[in-house]
Amino acid sequence: MKKQLHAVAIDGPSGAGKSTLARAAAARLHFLYVDTGAIYRSIGWYALQKGISLERPEEIEKLLPGLKIAVSYGEDGLQHMLVNGEDVTDRIRLPEVSAAASKVAAVGAVRSYLLEMQRQLAREHDVIMDGRDIGTVVLPDADCKIFLTASAEVRARRRCTELEQRGTPQTYETVLADMRRRDEQDCSRAVAPLKQAEDAVLLDTSELDFAHSVEALVGLIEENIAHET
Ligand code: DC
Repeated sequence: MKKQLHAVAIDGPSGAGKSTLARAAAARLHFLYVDTGAIYRSIGWYALQKGISLERPEEIEKLLPGLKIAVSYGEDGLQHMLVNGEDVTDRIRLPEVSAAASKVAAVGAVRSYLLEMQRQLAREHDVIMDGRDIGTVVLPDADCKIFLTASAEVRARRRCTELEQRGTPQTYETVLADMRRRDEQDCSRAVAPLKQAEDAVLLDTSELDFAHSVEALVGLIEENIAHET
């Protein structure tokens, strides 16, 4: 009999620690970690390369036919993003790409273009997928849905540390303002806005360190998947 595949959906605002925590949980549970933000970032990066106006959804939509986005997993198990064959994994982490990703993610045509690709990964693997609309739109039947969040101040502080480690530091005030702007944009857009699915469990990591957050996340997943099987 074919093994039943499991899907875990993790949604939440930027900087909540979704990717780091989801990656750690996926390694523990031997699931494939899918970072859907990286996919939107790849389109944001491409739009910046093409120099189009990000304020014009129709211009963004016109890019899609010439665009081939692929997700590949290296031997290290890390997710790499390819745009028309070019590996853009590192470049999509720049702050200007974050802003561009948030703009392209608000375009309905971009979201539909990426929907099938995300669902296909869940049809082929046990996945932990993180994003903004995974539990609400992409995988509404996921075995386990988690809404992962932390206060804006805590998220901004964590993002500052991350940017410093990447060698691209920014002030706390700038990062907090950017984060609030992106939260506002991601929550208020007409298509697939960020919101907690009705059947998602809330996990607030404001008061938890990394190790405790991973424990809490893995615990929630194991509990929900055990109930399913
Ligand atoms: O998680 P992230 O910061 O890498 O995501 C980049 C942008 O993409 C962010 O502004 C939200 C958007 N996004 C989205 O709209 N839907 C997803 N499933 C994932 C990300």
